[in-house]
Amino acid sequence: MKAIIPVAGWGSRFLPATKAMPKEMLPVVDKPVIQYIVEELLDAGVYDIVFVTGRHKRAIEDHFDINPDLEQHLEKAGKKELLELVRNISYLINPIYIRQKQQLGLGHAVLTARPALGAEEPFLVSLGDIIIRKENTVKRLIELHKRFGKSVIALFEVPREEVSKYGIAKVKKIDESIYLIEDIVEKPSVEEAPSNLAVVGRYLFTPSLWEKLEKTKPGKGGEIQLTDAIKALLQEEAVYAFKVTGKVYDTGNKLGFLKTIVDFALERPDLSAEFMEYLQQVVKENSKAKK
Ligand code: UTP
Repeated sequence: MKAIIPVAGWGSRFLPATKAMPKEMLPVVDKPVIQYIVEELLDAGVYDIVFVTGRHKRAIEDHFDINPDLEQHLEKAGKKELLELVRNISYLINPIYIRQKQQLGLGHAVLTARPALGAEEPFLVSLGDIIIRKENTVKRLIELHKRFGKSVIALFEVPREEVSKYGIAKVKKIDESIYLIEDIVEKPSVEEAPSNLAVVGRYLFTPSLWEKLEKTKPGKGGEIQLTDAIKALLQEEAVYAFKVTGKVYDTGNKLGFLKTIVDFALERPDLSAEFMEYLQQVVKENSKAKK
């Protein structure tokens, strides 16, 4: 199965850092965010990855390509481990790059990838700024698609007051943490929200989605929303969902990114002890200053 990773967005919540650099290349300790998303796909046996990119996203293409100058330098310097690390990334996947010329929304970005996908094939979509750990959600999407033969969407629980940041689903439970989607709304108000189950950025779609995307008009924020195409798909086909049990890191906003770095650094054997000591010291100093 092929996967689409849309990475053409502006990343405006991270300006000025994203003026010349994709937000998907921000490092989580020493690995860019996008590599974690790619590794989850690889671990699920998905190698053909279609990146929907834009003019300002060249660094992503370079990251998954070979870099002869750097490799030569590392070889000469006898830095074998680093050389292997850098080389391996170039051979991880079979990347396909398509440009979204205008950033018209996530739905439009997915539709832009269509020429690279088989007309009759189901396909995956993973968002380029959401890392999910301790559970391979892509494997789960594939398993459930095999079981039901339909589209499947990963959901996660969010605090009620945060529903207006996400696509929110109305669901009917059919099994332990498996649901049928009855309705879906993009960024509803707390009052409008049919639940607190939010779309988390991992999807598997049947090819019926293409026709719906083609007909989707600009919605919330004037963007062509993937959520609206899913809503149209629901009129025709069952769409299944499951609740993610792993930890979700939204690196596309500042606080989410900071939390990601702290958690990942604390899990690194080469950093955790000293970093923890530093964090404790910071907390102590800050609480003293507040008193
Ligand atoms: P976001 O709204 O989270 O990302 O879109 P953004 O637009 O890059 O960030 P802000 O809001 O300006 O800070 C969700 C995903 O959809 C992609 C983004 O790259 C992101 O991974 N996207 C969004 C596109 O590829 N094209 C678009 O036109 C819009």
